[in-house]
Amino acid sequence: MAPRLSPVLVVGAGHMGGALVAGWLRARTVTPAELILRDPVPGTVAQSAAREGAVLNGSPAAMATARTVILAVKPQTWRAMATELAPCVARDAVIISIMAGVAARDLAEAFPGRSIVRVMPTTAVAVLKGAASVWSADARGREAARRLFEPLGAVVDLEEEAQMHVATAASGSAPAYVYALVESLEAAAAGAGLGREAARTLARSALIGAAALLEDTGAEAGELRRQVTSPGGTTEAALRVLIQDGALDDLLARAVAAAAGRSRELGS
Ligand SMILES: NC(=O)c1ccc[n+]([C@@H]2O[C@H](COP(=O)([O-])OP(=O)(O)OC[C@H]3O[C@@H](n4cnc5c(N)ncnc54)[C@H](OP(=O)(O)O)[C@@H]3O)[C@@H](O)[C@H]2O)c1
Repeated sequence: MAPRLSPVLVVGAGHMGGALVAGWLRARTVTPAELILRDPVPGTVAQSAAREGAVLNGSPAAMATARTVILAVKPQTWRAMATELAPCVARDAVIISIMAGVAARDLAEAFPGRSIVRVMPTTAVAVLKGAASVWSADARGREAARRLFEPLGAVVDLEEEAQMHVATAASGSAPAYVYALVESLEAAAAGAGLGREAARTLARSALIGAAALLEDTGAEAGELRRQVTSPGGTTEAALRVLIQDGALDDLLARAVAAAAGRSRELGS
């Protein structure tokens, strides 16, 4: 029988920690009673989970019962949190860090003897359409992460920890790039003459519809793009601006490199 993963202790129930809690409760793979949440200023998800039976800011003894610990505070503040937390964590607990840039070596020093896993999720785990890149030096850690994150979306096993910088840049941070695109499209549509509300509705629908087709058809993005692009038509005119001479490739390559660089800095 697979080892138990609960209770699950989530340290830092902010945007991402809260999204994970929301996803597990939605998927019903972790019940409120199996959750222990720690956050000085708990958000709405944590408060609502607490009303359903999760332990919120419980005692060290409650935290010691956790079989899995999710570290979800900001990378800049993790060391102080770890110093306080480590003595309370069971020797055989699995430590899953979703913090950008924080290396397994440093986590292993802070939580000696525990199985260490790094996971880079996206916020869409809250609606079970997320992604999670997983790396661990040990099979037990990988297995625990797979079981916890598969119900929340796609899981990708990384071959080396160093790939986590790119996974952070191309996945964890990537929803923000897509939202920025929607914001830009909305502004461009309004600037070109549409009313604000119409521009908003159409820009959002472009993303939501395109994402749904990607998911429903399973087709490659390039194939779906070609289906919208008639030779000599309007879309082709726009794509000439966007992708000609690798303009978009170049922009995204630079964006991903900048994010991966920042991830490396956070870990040093
Ligand atoms: N947001 C994303 O899309 C995303 C994606 C992938 C990975 N991540 C990673 O997830 C982590 C959290 O990011 P976030 O965007 O969720 O940040 P966030 O919204 O600021 O959440 C962090 C939470 O942790 C709380 N906290 C701070 N110190 C704590 C402590 N000692 N014990 C317990 N809780 C503590 C914070 O409270 P205060 O606000 O009161 O300090 C805050 O509520 C980061 O390491 C980030 O790299 C985020």
